[in-house]
Amino acid sequence: MQYHIVTYGCQMNVHESEKIAGILQKMGYTYTDKRKDADVIVFNTCAIREGAEDRAFGNIGALKQQKKENPNKIIVVCGCMTQQKSVAEKIFNTFPFVDIILGTHNLFMLESLIKRKIANRKRILDYLDETNIVEGLPCYRTSGKNAWVNIMYGCNNFCTYCIVPYVRGREISRKKQDILNEIKEIVSTNNYDTITLLGQNVNSYGSDDVSQGTFSELLQDICNIEGDFQLTFMTSHPKDLSDDLISVMKENDKIIKEIHLPVQSGSNKILKLMNRKYTVEHYLSLIEKLRQAMPNIRITTDIIVGFPQETEEDFNQTVQLVKSVKYDGIFAFMYSKRSGTVAEKMDGQVDDEIKNKRVNYLLNLEKEIKAQKGK
Ligand code: 5AD
Ligand code: SF4
Repeated sequence: MQYHIVTYGCQMNVHESEKIAGILQKMGYTYTDKRKDADVIVFNTCAIREGAEDRAFGNIGALKQQKKENPNKIIVVCGCMTQQKSVAEKIFNTFPFVDIILGTHNLFMLESLIKRKIANRKRILDYLDETNIVEGLPCYRTSGKNAWVNIMYGCNNFCTYCIVPYVRGREISRKKQDILNEIKEIVSTNNYDTITLLGQNVNSYGSDDVSQGTFSELLQDICNIEGDFQLTFMTSHPKDLSDDLISVMKENDKIIKEIHLPVQSGSNKILKLMNRKYTVEHYLSLIEKLRQAMPNIRITTDIIVGFPQETEEDFNQTVQLVKSVKYDGIFAFMYSKRSGTVAEKMDGQVDDEIKNKRVNYLLNLEKEIKAQKGK
């Protein structure tokens, strides 16, 4: 019996696919890189931008033929798209050849859902409203020498463009001891040289459960684990980046000197409309502190262009910020309207043509900066 997984989206999803693989392997399935040979195909979907959803819809549609060739093949769709009830129902109703639909909150039930499907052959749409932290799930790591470790789930920030808080729910931190135990086990295998901590907003680790301590304390405790490994983390929200975090990064050789610090825009007007809760001035002061403490730190960012009401002048301010920070990497996105978010209903939506122009401008600027830095 063989399985195949198709993963869309961010590192969180990549890691969740490792858990899916762990569950399937425990059930006795082995991996195949060929969809047509798989007895179970899992689509782990992403909802962050409309384009990602459209692509997934197209690709799920294309599975119809595979099901025709082998009616016993089990097709599973999970992830952020199907954690939205309306999308889960739409997939259920549009694609009768999809056997099992579940979200992110009930991933831990995958084994029992597959068994139920095999036993009674009925299609399944299973949905849970709330996040549950389930410890001890098997995990089959597929990211080479890097081991992903989730430290928290969900997001409380409600940036006005973003669907994540609606899909993934409120922030819940894992218990520190569970995280430390997982990392000790990873280190003891000697198979990995890097641990990457994952969370939508790692800097606010523990704020839902102060007895777990802060993110910088967690980092320090991880660095105290004996063994030869490097540590990094994503994603940091600028509003929560503390001086303690900067000093823990500086003091510990195990921590890689890099940070992904999404700025999203260089215009205070747009940052406010985005509900980012910091100003350009504050952001630049963080960059200065980081570089003062660690002169060679690699800094990368996310930027959204064409957010509602973004004028040429606002975009120029983003360009100025990029020129002054001289990022080591930029992920530039065209704003994409997500239903249910605040920005969806804002006046002043920007034309795709302009978004396209602005995103290309940033990509070229990134190239120029890299060339200047000799990279
Ligand atoms: N449109 C465009 N980009 C978005 N992102 C999140 N939501 C949207 C959206 N609606 C980007 C942000 C975030 C990254 C993971 O995806 O830049 O940091
Ligand atoms: Fe989305 Fe903002 Fe939360 Fe990041 S911090 S997941 S952009 S709402």
